[in-house]
Amino acid sequence: MDGDNDVCVLQRRLAEAGQSHLLQFWEELSVAEQQELLMDLKDMDLKELSQAFQRAMMGSGHLPGQENVDARMEPVPREALGSATRDESQLPAWEEEGLRHISQSKVAVLLLAGGQGTRLGVSYPKGMYDVGLPSHKTLFQIQAERILKLQQVAEKQYGLECVIPWYIMTSGRTMESTKEFFLKHKYFGLKKENVVFFHQGMLPAMDFDGKILLEEKGKISMAPDGNGGLYQALRAHHIVEDMEQRGIGSIHVYCVDNILVKVADPRFIGFCIHKGADCGAKVVEKTNPTEPVGVVCQVGGVYQVVEYSEISLATAQKRSHDGRLLFNAGNIANHYFTMEFLKDIVNVYEPRLQHHVAQKKIPYIDVATGKYLKPDKPNGIKMEKFVFDIFQFAKKFVVYEVLREDEFSPLKNADSQNGKDNPTTARHALMSLHHCWVLNAGGHFVDENGTRLPAIPRGTNGKSDAVQADASHNLKDANDSPIQCEISPLISYGGEGLEKLVKDKEFHAPLLIDRSGVHELVKNGTTGSL
Ligand code: UTP
Repeated sequence: MDGDNDVCVLQRRLAEAGQSHLLQFWEELSVAEQQELLMDLKDMDLKELSQAFQRAMMGSGHLPGQENVDARMEPVPREALGSATRDESQLPAWEEEGLRHISQSKVAVLLLAGGQGTRLGVSYPKGMYDVGLPSHKTLFQIQAERILKLQQVAEKQYGLECVIPWYIMTSGRTMESTKEFFLKHKYFGLKKENVVFFHQGMLPAMDFDGKILLEEKGKISMAPDGNGGLYQALRAHHIVEDMEQRGIGSIHVYCVDNILVKVADPRFIGFCIHKGADCGAKVVEKTNPTEPVGVVCQVGGVYQVVEYSEISLATAQKRSHDGRLLFNAGNIANHYFTMEFLKDIVNVYEPRLQHHVAQKKIPYIDVATGKYLKPDKPNGIKMEKFVFDIFQFAKKFVVYEVLREDEFSPLKNADSQNGKDNPTTARHALMSLHHCWVLNAGGHFVDENGTRLPAIPRGTNGKSDAVQADASHNLKDANDSPIQCEISPLISYGGEGLEKLVKDKEFHAPLLIDRSGVHELVKNGTTGSL
């Protein structure tokens, strides 16, 4: 019988690869479960997996041979650096260049949304999360509306109808729910044909000896292969061809969890084009040596992201003559690629990328007892590639520094877990930014007695450093509630165009500005339109 034959072949393959334990409970499985396990294992290249494991463990410091990057790190040189604050005079030119490309439908955005969101702990894709803004918009909706608005801004400026196609990478597990969500919400006003979903690959979780873990007696423990799984997925689903057919020249890649992300940011794109770069990274300044963030730098003359854990405290604490940390280019997984560069990565360089090892607590079936165990300390690894692993292949790499409080507030943790990067900090970051937009446009907030609340405008319009520092301080404390103010992305992409709505006017918070008007959201739940 074919089936018996398949099982014999599999048994032999597993024995050769040292993975025979995966069939330990074979006799206990139903026929359907046996078929499923057979299917899962059939397409798995066990030899390649074992090699990837060996390489990944070598690179992670678990085996001898890991090189110490600490001594070979060099900061990003000024000529490769653009800054939203230090190069203010050039921003209009960069913005114009970026908008011109957008208006010609040459810019695409690529969303990394294939993560598991373990720390946030919800059962649905993170992009569907509502952080509790007055509008209750989800991350997906906020991003979709920013794309819509930017298309309109570019169209208005250049008189050309344009499209910013949105490529959304999910995992195999989240693909259907993500698609359903978009369908249910009518693609948030975007055209269906311009939103392209594709899913990334998965890899089995292993113990520290390279043995694949079982999640159930008949089911392998699988996890997405990291956000660097992007490149294989682009190839597998012919996404690059789709981009080429649309005439795309520049791609902005970003993560789903950053509530402040400036999708297809024209300034960033314009800066990269202006510099003739094939690859660029947007960064925020790392100000605290012990902040666990990867830094963009050169190692032996080659650009890469060096993780916080890879460098010594002494190196992390080094300062340059201006008092800033020497290695201060904090990576926020927000990148620019030219089409040519992405094509080279997908077709030529991707196989050279190594997996990184993430030690995790992975629930598993103990093959000796058949019991399901939930470990309380890491018992195995997940192998992941990272989206930034391809910096090393860039011919011209640039870095664009922006203010954290304007552009970066990731949603990682549940409110209950951690005071950092949670729904509350994300909501506060957005409202605090929008509060500043209103102030910068000449609006004022008053308390219930009509007394003006102290203004804290920030530096985006040329304000002083002292004022900036004050405002960023305001965001550092998650418990420090900002004035509740939300502006729909359909009204303003980056703070522009608000004067006609708010200048010289006084508002009570909570304030919501959307397409139907300016609303003071009265505490009893009713809406007072102004
Ligand atoms: P994180 O590494 O923070 O992972 O992803 P996560 O899934 O959001 O959360 P945890 O670690 O399980 O709690 C950073 C970005 O990379 C994407 C995520 O969707 C997020 O936008 N990502 C991560 C992928 O697209 N694929 C992956 O395999 C992993």
